[in-house]
Amino acid sequence: MPSLVHSLLLCVLVLSASLIHTHAQLTSNFYNNVCPKALSTIKSVVLNAIKNEPRMGASLLRLHFHDCFVNGCDGSVLLDDTSTFTREKTALPNANSIRGFEVIDQIKTQVNQACNGNLVSCADILAVAARDSVAILGGPNYKVLVGRRDARTTSVNDANRNLPPPFFNVTQLLSNFQSHGLDLKDLVVLSAGHTLGYARCTSFRNRIYNDTNIDSKFAATLQGNCPQSGGDDNLSGLDKTPYSFDNAYFKFLLSNKGLLHSDQELFGGGNGDSDNLVKYYNTYPNAFKNDFASSMIKMGNMNPLTGSDGEVRANCRVVN
Ligand code: HEM
Ligand SMILES: *[C@@H]1O[C@H](CO)[C@@H](O)[C@H](O)[C@H]1NC(C)=O
Ligand SMILES: *[C@@H]1O[C@H](CO)[C@@H](O)[C@H](O)[C@H]1NC(C)=O
Ligand SMILES: *[C@@H]1O[C@H](CO)[C@@H](O)[C@H](O)[C@H]1NC(C)=O
Repeated sequence: MPSLVHSLLLCVLVLSASLIHTHAQLTSNFYNNVCPKALSTIKSVVLNAIKNEPRMGASLLRLHFHDCFVNGCDGSVLLDDTSTFTREKTALPNANSIRGFEVIDQIKTQVNQACNGNLVSCADILAVAARDSVAILGGPNYKVLVGRRDARTTSVNDANRNLPPPFFNVTQLLSNFQSHGLDLKDLVVLSAGHTLGYARCTSFRNRIYNDTNIDSKFAATLQGNCPQSGGDDNLSGLDKTPYSFDNAYFKFLLSNKGLLHSDQELFGGGNGDSDNLVKYYNTYPNAFKNDFASSMIKMGNMNPLTGSDGEVRANCRVVN
């Protein structure tokens, strides 16, 4: 009998170990013992980068989003193309648009020095740099969860399939978010990441010439910098204060001044619950900040590689 009990116990242990393995949780203290300086090192590079170029905070936040929405937060967005693989960087929503790779390289170098080795994953660097960017520019300084590992592969098709385009309506946006385990509140709150940063003319041209739910003076002003043809890369702020994490984004939506079609869809696009959330966050900026933090943590938890899955990349642009 003891041997039966023994093997039953062993069975339970193996089972629960494999459960723990596949459902491994991210934690806020993952690097506390192995490299206590990891998070502060990341923060100091981010701080410097934003001092040099205030837009960089927005760009780093967006990198984390684009990482997480394609097969989970696994650093895949950072991989360069090779002779045999076309990676995510060439996908339609990314090409000529996502930026910040040099800052990530710089963080990786400095963190490897501070840790005396290659311990911090590129996926975690993205999550921490996004949190720091938000906090530095006036948003919530939430406790970021870490312990992710990096993917060994990814593809341009996965990125094109998973990242929402700016011409989506509110129904399409919501089903895209739901396919990632996120809900309407996450959609509204995370879209307000557009309180930071810029978009290119090519991303909002159709909106400022063809949409009817747009403030006409606002459209006319934008048209001055974004002609019917040409000036594709000319930039406009996604809200009135592109370097400040505030609730101006919601104010913009309430007055039909969403820059992207997808932004304006969240107010007046036909989803009454979405309209109410926009009004609510416009009235309660602190609720917006708290809920943004929760939704960022939720997004950051999407399908991470943990335990012995994947790897810790030595150079964020190439697999080991
Ligand atoms: C809901 C669906 C979303 C759509 C359709 C969308 C689309 C876009 C587009 C088209 C741009 C401009 C790109 C360019 O013209 O180069 C942009 C910029 C940006 N997006 Fe989104 N986005 C979405 C959600 C999000 C989320 C969830 C976040 C983060 C939480 C985010 C953060 C940003 C930031 C910060 C920028 C500015 C980046 C910079 O200035 O470098 N977006 N987005
Ligand atoms: C949103 O777009 C889809 C696909 O084009 C369309 O079937 C649907 O009717 C649209 N929904 C609304 C509310 O416009
Ligand atoms: C406006 O819509 C029409 C019809 O869909 C399209 O042909 C045209 O290219 C659009 N204009 C702009 C500036 O996007
Ligand atoms: C792009 O923006 C610049 C600076 O505002 C402006 O001078 C230029 O005319 C714009 N390009 C086009 C094609 O409108």
